[in-house]
Amino acid sequence: MKIFTPIIINGLAVKNRTVMAPMCMYSAQEDGFVSQFHRVHYPTRAYGGIGLIIQEATAIEPRGRITDHDLGIWSDEHGLGLKELVSMVHMAGGKMAIQLAHAGRKSRNTFEPIVSSCNQRFNDKYDIPKQLSISEIKDIVAAFKQGAKRAKEAGYDGIEIHGAHGYLINQFLSPFTNKRDDEYGGSLEKRTRFLLEILTAVREVWRGPLWVRLSADEYIEQGHRLEDTLKVIDLIKHLIDAVNVSSGGISPSVPKVFPGYQLAFSAAIREKGLLTFGGGLINSIEEAEQALAKEKADLIYFGRPLLLRPFIVLEAAKTYAPELVIPQYERG
Ligand SMILES: Cc1cc2nc3c(=O)[nH]c(=O)nc-3n(C[C@H](O)[C@H](O)[C@H](O)COP(=O)(O)O)c2cc1C
Repeated sequence: MKIFTPIIINGLAVKNRTVMAPMCMYSAQEDGFVSQFHRVHYPTRAYGGIGLIIQEATAIEPRGRITDHDLGIWSDEHGLGLKELVSMVHMAGGKMAIQLAHAGRKSRNTFEPIVSSCNQRFNDKYDIPKQLSISEIKDIVAAFKQGAKRAKEAGYDGIEIHGAHGYLINQFLSPFTNKRDDEYGGSLEKRTRFLLEILTAVREVWRGPLWVRLSADEYIEQGHRLEDTLKVIDLIKHLIDAVNVSSGGISPSVPKVFPGYQLAFSAAIREKGLLTFGGGLINSIEEAEQALAKEKADLIYFGRPLLLRPFIVLEAAKTYAPELVIPQYERG
């Protein structure tokens, strides 16, 4: 099966095509530090045979957290726990990437006022954000770069920039949330400037596998559709190795979903010559295999299924690729 074949992402050898999707566990200690929960949670999925784990949204500054219990990477002290986490995943045979994130107006941290591309709130359950000034934008770009530097020091195998789900980068990308009239707003080129500057800054400290998570379709009339996302990708393509394809989140509106509902976006982005991570309601290795066979994506991510079934890959490997079952679990 193709799902059990290795793949190389900018020099990184991943043993199979399965990916653990980034999922916030809201289980960090106060101040964003790794907890015992993470030390069990991530290595368990690596022992379960997942090829590449993408760590949950990890905030590059305190006000960029979704909640007070998100993981953070805004100080050197954070690096210690993260480094330990990476080495445990490596010991369990997996590769580990980090999702660097800033929640912008979707932050509900209780410590600091929140910011966005504009001063419009998500809905009445959220605070009104402050519109970032140009110099504050530059500071956030620098914080992403610093986060990438710390990720490198911690030993991560890949870096994902969170540009999806209506968080800060998405708030700049989308015409629905970006009403600025300076060089960071207006045309699609200007709305992409923030992301482009982040990627350029990250590339100054990180040559390894780098990709972006994007909401390919925002499911609202005033937002991005697939064709807009493809134009964004044209502007950033030279800086990235892949796209982690998702959708929605810029507004509270929710689309009709079905197994593989985002795979058509992934297939279209793949035509740009980039590797893609596809997924969304993929519940079995067989479904994932079909998506790969139809060339919808190069790797398949699993989110919710892995919360309750961390061994979903090994269970299938028992039948389709028994050599992948680690000796300790052979009798399973
Ligand atoms: C509990 C939970 C937390 C999530 N946190 C993140 C996150 O930190 N970053 C992100 O990009 N997506 C996040 N997502 C979205 C998942 O990565 C994934 O795209 C989504 O769940 C669809 O895949 P699935 O149907 O396999 O679960 C989260 C989803 C869940 C269920």
